[in-house]
Amino acid sequence: MNLNIALLAGDGIGPEVIDQAVKVCNAIAVKYHHDITWQPALTGAAAIDAVGEPYPDETHEICANSDAVLFGAIGHPRFDNDPSAKVRPEQGLLKMRQKLGLFANVRPTFTFPSLIDKSPLKRDRIEGTDLIILRELTGGVYFGERGRKDDGHTAFDTMTYQRFEIERLAKKGFEMAMKRSKKLCCVDKANVLESSRLWRETVQAMEKDYPEVEVSYEFVDAVAMRLIQWPKGYDVIITANLFGDILTDEASVISGSMGLMPSSSVGSKVSLYEPIHGSYPQAAGKDIANPLATVLSAAMLFEDLDLTQEADDIRRVVNKSLAEGIVTEDLADGGKAYKTSEVGDWLAKSL
Ligand code: IPM
Ligand code: MN
Repeated sequence: MNLNIALLAGDGIGPEVIDQAVKVCNAIAVKYHHDITWQPALTGAAAIDAVGEPYPDETHEICANSDAVLFGAIGHPRFDNDPSAKVRPEQGLLKMRQKLGLFANVRPTFTFPSLIDKSPLKRDRIEGTDLIILRELTGGVYFGERGRKDDGHTAFDTMTYQRFEIERLAKKGFEMAMKRSKKLCCVDKANVLESSRLWRETVQAMEKDYPEVEVSYEFVDAVAMRLIQWPKGYDVIITANLFGDILTDEASVISGSMGLMPSSSVGSKVSLYEPIHGSYPQAAGKDIANPLATVLSAAMLFEDLDLTQEADDIRRVVNKSLAEGIVTEDLADGGKAYKTSEVGDWLAKSL
């Protein structure tokens, strides 16, 4: 297969972890006779420095015309400590999600047999966890009206949802649940928020189209608790943008490391694949960051192109590296810590 993949390394550890995913994909291409053309493009602080804009039009053209986008990380501390900055790297990510129409963010949470005891949560609670949080990605409070009032002391952000935005996300959730254990949980704050009541009403109206799916409705505060108390109680969760942002960081604790969790963002055309972790600026350039979340994001990319064997092969070598202790310092636990690049080389060679 000929694949044209946009490569957005971004900031911080982004370029380092992306390099390892590229090594792994190239090894897969050789093994399965694919032809991958990588199209590097600028985003985030790197793009602000080069052209003054975190998601330049040229980058959008490259992404929009690709078969898939592989993305590293975005963000720079220089902006975090400067609330007055007009242009921020994160705006690039939001603009990209919006312009590419990536309305659904798929964030799976699962455990790795060899890492169960790395999680601060007890083994019997988490072993065998396999859930997916489907986060709405182009609406809600991230994209609602925001601003400051003239009094100089008031700021506001608005959480707005339209029925079609909820429907298209919920449809993906129902379809995913049908392929899995037929359980769907709609997470909201319908006891307080009007937009959440629209979520419930909309999802309830769709239940009749999927009679086999058992749907539950839970409040986000309670889910924040239950998710780490008994994650095995969940299968597919659908939720609004901000709730999903928070719950997916929380859920990453189940797997034992934020450095392991991949994600995909899908819409109607091209999809994007990225680790759920951030740009980890303290580690940038040191060759110590865990590349596995990015490598596993590449596995999701192959899976979505129906290249299932390729995806399974990547997951197999990742599991092997974990079992054999070919891991970066976050997982080394007193044992030998391998460099980011060494882990990438090992994975590529083991395919
Ligand atoms: C994520 C990140 C982003 C988000 C930031 C960097 C804008 O935290 O992908 O979860 O909040 O969506
Ligand atoms: Mn986040």
